[in-house]
Amino acid sequence: MNIILFGPPGAGKGTQAENITKSFNLYKVSSGDLLRIEVSKKTDLGNEIKSTIEKGALVSDKIINNLIIKILADKKFYNRLIFDGYPRNLDQAKSLNLFVKKYDQKISCVISLNVSKELIIKRILGRQTCTKCGLIFNEYFKPANSENHLCGTKFLVKRSDDNEKTIFKRYKTYLDKTLPILEHYKKLNLLHEIEGKSEIDKIFVEISRIIASLEA
Ligand code: AP5
Ligand code: MG
Repeated sequence: MNIILFGPPGAGKGTQAENITKSFNLYKVSSGDLLRIEVSKKTDLGNEIKSTIEKGALVSDKIINNLIIKILADKKFYNRLIFDGYPRNLDQAKSLNLFVKKYDQKISCVISLNVSKELIIKRILGRQTCTKCGLIFNEYFKPANSENHLCGTKFLVKRSDDNEKTIFKRYKTYLDKTLPILEHYKKLNLLHEIEGKSEIDKIFVEISRIIASLEA
């Protein structure tokens, strides 16, 4: 099965995608992480992507779809993907439909994390990511400590788009471009909505129930 994790910036998509890969036989495809890898290479393309991300806008569909199709074409991941941050607009959703058909796969469900704007701002401003292991922490909600993180504090960084000015732009982009996708998946009967304001573990229990019901 392939699953889409949907939600506004800071909803907890990356956090839950990580939990899902630990418990289910699925691979995480985070379009944001793939783009940040490209940025870290400091190529012309990476610099162009960096500037788009820091404006809170969407990177071009062509760049994103090229990254995604390579993964869907890889037999290692056949029908076992969890998408975090993709698709991000209706054209990407339509492209994804074509790609899954082309590689004889399917989208089994879309899990949407509903979180208010006020809460996501606090979550984003408190976020810390480890550059060594990739784990996501939060100064307010999930501080890194010696039990949950072995790499040490020196690898914890803030993302360059996690500032107040960019958050508002990212949220507007989400409302204008990304939110309309939900209606598309609702019509296809694939949508599961989850209250995303509760604790990480409780949300994961709900997500696990949904995935288990698909596996049954
Ligand atoms: P991307 O990296 O995808 O960012 P995003 O969608 O804005 O989402 P975030 O990563 O900010 O949040 P999240 O939902 O993953 O939350 P997290 O689990 O970290 O994209 C970045 C940029 O790349 C985009 O703006 C765009 O420019 C570009 N891009 C990416 N994909 C694209 C695409 N398909 N097309 C075009 N452009 C694209 O959690 C947030 C914080 O909250 C963490 O600190 C976490 O510890 C904490 N937290 C999580 N859950 C809870 C909880 N339940 N309670 C308390 N704290 C929690
Ligand atoms: Mg994320």
